[in-house]
Amino acid sequence: MLIAVDGPAASGKGTIARALAKHFGLPHMDTGMLYRSVALTMFRFGGDPASEFEAVRACEGVAQIDPTDPELRSEVVGSIASRISTYAGVRAALLERQRNFASQAPGAVLDGRDIGTVVAPNATAKLFVTASPEVRARRRAAELLARGMPAHLEDVLIDIRARDDRDTHRDAAPLVQAADADLLDTSDMEIDEAIAAAIELVERKI
Ligand code: C5P
Repeated sequence: MLIAVDGPAASGKGTIARALAKHFGLPHMDTGMLYRSVALTMFRFGGDPASEFEAVRACEGVAQIDPTDPELRSEVVGSIASRISTYAGVRAALLERQRNFASQAPGAVLDGRDIGTVVAPNATAKLFVTASPEVRARRRAAELLARGMPAHLEDVLIDIRARDDRDTHRDAAPLVQAADADLLDTSDMEIDEAIAAAIELVERKI
């Protein structure tokens, strides 16, 4: 049983994917963390995000990054991740790790941007989780403030729009709803409602 959860930044897909993993007793991979790990490696070693060659080389360091490192979640690392994820070479270098995780028994939940379209096109259930940019900016700003990080709503909204633009317009595996994915718009939902709706959509596919 393979569950693919895709969607834009701060749509709630990560929380929903974790809840689905718990509900169905499956392991979960947040694939954004792979791209963030490459970004953090570059940030630490002074790599140039404008260089695909350097970004591909940084993919080798992914396993060395501690997944609980709070710097992975910082805005600067997220912004580098958004840039280096446009490179086909980077996406190819990270694909096998994701496919291996997806192929384990009894199944898995993966969340990201291209799980239903590229990583696991044969997934049992595919969700495309979205929300309006304004709602997502409000959520992301609240999340940053709760973690003691500075956040200005206007800046967060600008960043979210820039990230959406890069994610949807890149040539390599752009963010797009798979033809057979169910759309879950969480703009007017509390997180508990969104999780319940997601479980129901997955249950219809199994
Ligand atoms: O989801 P998150 O914001 O942590 O992802 C960081 C960046 O990695 C995103 O801006 C996106 O561009 C990229 N990403 C991707 N494909 C994935 C997951 C994330 O391109 N499957």
